[in-house]
Amino acid sequence: MLFKLTDEQLMIQNMVREFSRKVIAATAAERDKTKEFPRDNFRQMGELGLMGMMIPEKYGGEEADAISYVLALSEIAYSCASTSVVMSVQNSIVCESLYKFGTKEQKQEFLIPLAAGEIIGAFALTEPDAGSDPLSQTTTAVRDGDFYVINGTKRFITSGENAGVVLVTAKTDENIGHKGISCFIVPKETCGLVVGHLEDKMGLRASDTTDLIFENCRVPIANILGLEGDGFKIAMAGLDSGRIGIAAQSLGVAQAAFDAAVKYAQTRKQFGSAISKHQAIRFQIADMDTQIEAARQLIFSAASMKDRGESYTRQASIAKLFASEMVNKVTARAIQIHGGYGFTKDYNVERYYRDARVFTIYEGTSEIQRIVISNHILRDKRKP
Ligand code: CAA
Repeated sequence: MLFKLTDEQLMIQNMVREFSRKVIAATAAERDKTKEFPRDNFRQMGELGLMGMMIPEKYGGEEADAISYVLALSEIAYSCASTSVVMSVQNSIVCESLYKFGTKEQKQEFLIPLAAGEIIGAFALTEPDAGSDPLSQTTTAVRDGDFYVINGTKRFITSGENAGVVLVTAKTDENIGHKGISCFIVPKETCGLVVGHLEDKMGLRASDTTDLIFENCRVPIANILGLEGDGFKIAMAGLDSGRIGIAAQSLGVAQAAFDAAVKYAQTRKQFGSAISKHQAIRFQIADMDTQIEAARQLIFSAASMKDRGESYTRQASIAKLFASEMVNKVTARAIQIHGGYGFTKDYNVERYYRDARVFTIYEGTSEIQRIVISNHILRDKRKP
């Protein structure tokens, strides 16, 4: 392994691995059927320090580095991708944005319970007609005395139903592009915030994805995150961190599919021997292992740049692009190795394949990652 993990990083990895494979894995397949939100898991994960891992201790976090975070997140994803996406959004886009841009009072009120896992956070950027292009969002926030009045509909919001607090972006000025977008902290019980349609998804079924409808939703001016006009920057910076998280999630699911495929290949007999003896299968295993290892190194590379305080936008997009494409190939191959059994719900690889499908889509599609990466190559000012 190119990156030598420290004793502390290894300890965190082992602790989360044990917890994940014992506690999280126990109900993952069942929750995929029932779509039951794993609230108890999050309570325990909060106690283990997994819901605000990179937040300083004084705000209830673990003050862990990004490498430890990706190790932990991929261990959770190994057992349950639904649980891992909630952990990812909570840690990166929600907690980190509050930590980086929030006032002391906002951190006290919102960050501490989030980092402790007492409440779940959601991040609401996407709209029915503004996905890859968040600049075209139409949600507005209009100043009215000591309040902002928010109107609009957000779509595909992870934890929309179960979140206790939402970070929402809205236009405070229609005429100045990116600088006309602001970000607000909206407690869920705020009057005028309504949970809309709950998506019935192909994968990540135990993680709720909903519309959030803002109808004359009044939030105090003290709830603006950063300054008026900082919303686009907050979203982009949060997504940089979030994209490392989705890459780590991809790694965890790919590793689970790979381990399942190897185990199956060693026990399944055809033509008089275990299919792992056949070169056709051995070569597939070698290719899967190579792809997983390459993704792991890209993720470590992005996380360590983050830990060193360097700009890591390009590296996060490279890791997300590669890892999310990789897991789709690896889970498909894992099903192929399982043959007809892989197509049934008796084997976890069927769930892994469905869960992985969205990884090349959310937190920026593969096409958006290619835009981000090529912008860094082709615009001199963005070169690392
Ligand atoms: N960090 C900080 N600021 C950034 C930034 C970054 N990574 N990237 C851009 N910015 C700033 C720029 O500096 C610029 O500000 P200035 O004008 O002050 O210099 C401003 O933002 C505009 O930058 P660009 O000109 O690069 O922006 P763009 O409009 O060309 O496009 C984009 C940017 C990369 C295409 C962007 O729109 C994007 O990432 N789109 C995808 C959105 C996305 O990922 N949505 C996912 C939804 S969230 C989700 O899925 C969560 C979930 O629940 C799982």
